Amino acid sequence: MKKILAMLLCLLMVCASFGALAEGQKVGISMPTKDLQRWNQDGENMQKMFEDAGFVVDLQYAANDEQIQLNQVTSMINNGCDVVIIAAITSTSLGSALDLAKEKGVPVIAYDRLLMAHDWVSYYATFNNYAVGTIQGTYIKDQLDLENAEGPFNLEITAGDPGDNNAGYFYQGAIDVLKPYIDSGKLVVKSGQIDFSEVATPAWKTETAMNRANSIIAFYDDGSNIDAWLCSNDSTALGVINALEDNYDGEWPIITGQDCDIANTKKMIAGEQSMSVFKDTRTLAAQVVKMVTQLLNGEEVEVNDLETYNNGVITVPSFLCVPVFADVNNYSELLIDSGYYTADQLQ
Ligand code: BGC
Repeated sequence: MKKILAMLLCLLMVCASFGALAEGQKVGISMPTKDLQRWNQDGENMQKMFEDAGFVVDLQYAANDEQIQLNQVTSMINNGCDVVIIAAITSTSLGSALDLAKEKGVPVIAYDRLLMAHDWVSYYATFNNYAVGTIQGTYIKDQLDLENAEGPFNLEITAGDPGDNNAGYFYQGAIDVLKPYIDSGKLVVKSGQIDFSEVATPAWKTETAMNRANSIIAFYDDGSNIDAWLCSNDSTALGVINALEDNYDGEWPIITGQDCDIANTKKMIAGEQSMSVFKDTRTLAAQVVKMVTQLLNGEEVEVNDLETYNNGVITVPSFLCVPVFADVNNYSELLIDSGYYTADQLQ
């Protein structure tokens, strides 16, 4: 009898601790903006997965305004969130909120974008950002057959937001593949704009990328062609495509992208954008839900990179998901068959 009672007690304790794991625990999720499709998906995916697991979710979008994000994260912490997940607008702008999280012992997970210059960043979950750039650079190298073709070919470059730590990784991954050909003269950048600081696009804005692309197109008024345009992501690729449509008469260049946004996938189907990099936000969201559950349960948190992501103060234990090449030949399998989009959305 004693034994049965002890067993029952044990079972009760296990159930209680399991129930306490998520029931009523509160997760704050701070996303940068609703303007870009991917952050809406990231936010919605995480919210659903956390709620299904029994968590209460406080999901907020910051309209790409650093001060709004700072206020939102601060109030999440003050309102009793047990953990906060942040995709920062600018990687260094949330210092005082991180100070508060540290003071209150609230773990912070950097989502997709690393939080820089602070020691209170518990974990980082992202895609392999350098690999995204490698995929883009390798695509241009293969399509132009840079190893064998004589060239020279004209290349232009549009990178991301200097305030986003990811942008440098995307750029570097691609440039490491293409730089030898720029150095040898097989790739020519007629605008002369090659360094990250010259090709960056503040806030990843389509319009900013378009305006810069328009000024670059002027270098091709002599009738020469742009053979390839390296764009770090889809929002900037869209700006470049808009500018080319309006002001460029030469042969259509190879154009890269990232995210498989709906507008850009349509451009791939129409032959205007050559490729994108698919980062399945469901995978990242599921990974973060797993990490948070492990963290709050006092278990070991699954990470797969302990070296790459130094934020200037600490090296943040990271989980890197795998980015996948996408183009007109595999988008249907990747995006429609997997249930990411319906066929109708891409009409
Ligand atoms: C993300 C990209 C996205 C870009 C603009 C980056 O931090 O990793 O997927 O295209 O921000 O929102």
